Amino acid sequence: MSIDLAPERSGSTTVERGSSGSAGAGTAVERGPAAYAAPGGTARPPLSPNALRRIVRDLAERPERWLHRVRLSAENRWYERLELAEDYEVWVISWLPGQSTGFHDHGGSRGAFTVALGELEELALAGPEHGLTVRRLSAGSERAFGPQYLHDVRNTAQGPAVTLHAYSPPLSEMSHYELRVGGLVKTSTEGAEQW
Ligand SMILES: [Fe+2]
Repeated sequence: MSIDLAPERSGSTTVERGSSGSAGAGTAVERGPAAYAAPGGTARPPLSPNALRRIVRDLAERPERWLHRVRLSAENRWYERLELAEDYEVWVISWLPGQSTGFHDHGGSRGAFTVALGELEELALAGPEHGLTVRRLSAGSERAFGPQYLHDVRNTAQGPAVTLHAYSPPLSEMSHYELRVGGLVKTSTEGAEQW
């Protein structure tokens, strides 16, 4: 499957929040079902990217709620779910130098994340005229995005990083992509039971 190099829709945003180390999360695309069937059959609309950004921002400002949970793994990025609600979930992820996600989507979920500690780099396709966008995400940076967003996040810095993520609805699957001439090509999909 090929993905057109379409511009990011609905404004993905990056916010630098000074050098305090406090963080939050960012915004972008709208697609997919306006509502989904929550457990029990109740349809709840997903939270907006901005609402998810507020969740991770507030959490980043309360390190006592997550800092003691953080671990580092030389094998792969380390991650743990901090919260699971009907309509969203929250994860903490640690990144050692060199660790990265590769290009991936979020299975139709909206999302937001913030760099709570350290710094990362995000690659995203910004359209045929703009090509690949590379953003440095220092501590305090926020990103938020809609359901069609694809990106590759990597730690190209010298030290570890910690990020806080919120997704709505909770992630059900993620697909991975390779960047080839002409665009991104889907190479695999994993379900929630695989992480
Ligand atoms: Fe992601």
